[in-house]
Amino acid sequence: MPPVADPNVLVGINTGDDCAAYRISDDLAIIQTVDFFTPVVDDPYDYGAIAVANSLSDIYAMGARPLFALNVVGFHSKELPLEILTQIMRGGVDKAREAGIDIVGGHTVDDKEPKYGLAVTGMIDPADIVYNSTAQVGDVLFLTKPLGIGVITTAIKRGLAGGPVVERAVEVMCALNLAASEAMVSVGINACTDITGYGLLGHMGEMTRGSGVGARIHARDVPVMQAARDLIGADLKIAPGGTVNNLEYVSSFVDFDPSISEAERLLLADAQTSGGLLISCPPDKADELEAALHEAGTIVAARIGVMKTEDDIGRIDVVP
Ligand code: CO
Ligand code: CO
Repeated sequence: MPPVADPNVLVGINTGDDCAAYRISDDLAIIQTVDFFTPVVDDPYDYGAIAVANSLSDIYAMGARPLFALNVVGFHSKELPLEILTQIMRGGVDKAREAGIDIVGGHTVDDKEPKYGLAVTGMIDPADIVYNSTAQVGDVLFLTKPLGIGVITTAIKRGLAGGPVVERAVEVMCALNLAASEAMVSVGINACTDITGYGLLGHMGEMTRGSGVGARIHARDVPVMQAARDLIGADLKIAPGGTVNNLEYVSSFVDFDPSISEAERLLLADAQTSGGLLISCPPDKADELEAALHEAGTIVAARIGVMKTEDDIGRIDVVP
């Protein structure tokens, strides 16, 4: 991508941040993001809801408020009954309503493999934008959803997971990051991003590099869904291709303690769909943030590590 020349572009492509931000006036910026993907679960309604929660997540990661959205759809009505698309859209509309916004249009193309997501527009005061690249040495790192979605959705596709495992995974993916975002904005934190396809370590790497700091995380403090631990404990090959690629990519900047097993490493790199927020919080506000996240009812409010010296820019230590 060529560099961005317009000075009103406040957030472009340089730091891999979650949304683009464009200044309209001194106290108003619009925020935009687009995300869509192939089905991650069998139920079309749940798939629609998950896709919308995932698309909105980038807006919440920047501490912004969504205003409205457009559908982005791939669907082939000659291959699949139209009722399935209706169900997907219904899941999407209901989830958007929960977020307090409308889906006001969109575009559909013929596509043998269904795809669904949103282009979302939001707004924020430019002074209030939460970047992914402004973490400080000493910050405490919080995570608001457990990991393991990639492993579980792969197991679902292979027919190795069902019933309560699917229900729990759907519940985690469907949860909006709205409450977590409001909590962090009310407390005032240094940086945030949401955990999606690059996994915890990949997104944390963007945060540390962009911020000019290093990080240390404690593997035992990182929340992981038990079903994902069980599945990967039984067979490492349940890790999806994206997760294996993530682990290979992050190994250039992550130092794993030798006691960290291959299964744990894969889980820390697991590609997430609609994952939680990774929040970098000043140490003197950590207790306040933890209380605010609990109050907001986030699935977890886990302290997983700290940002450390700028001598280790971009390096992440993973200790037990
Ligand atoms: Co994001
Ligand atoms: Co995104």
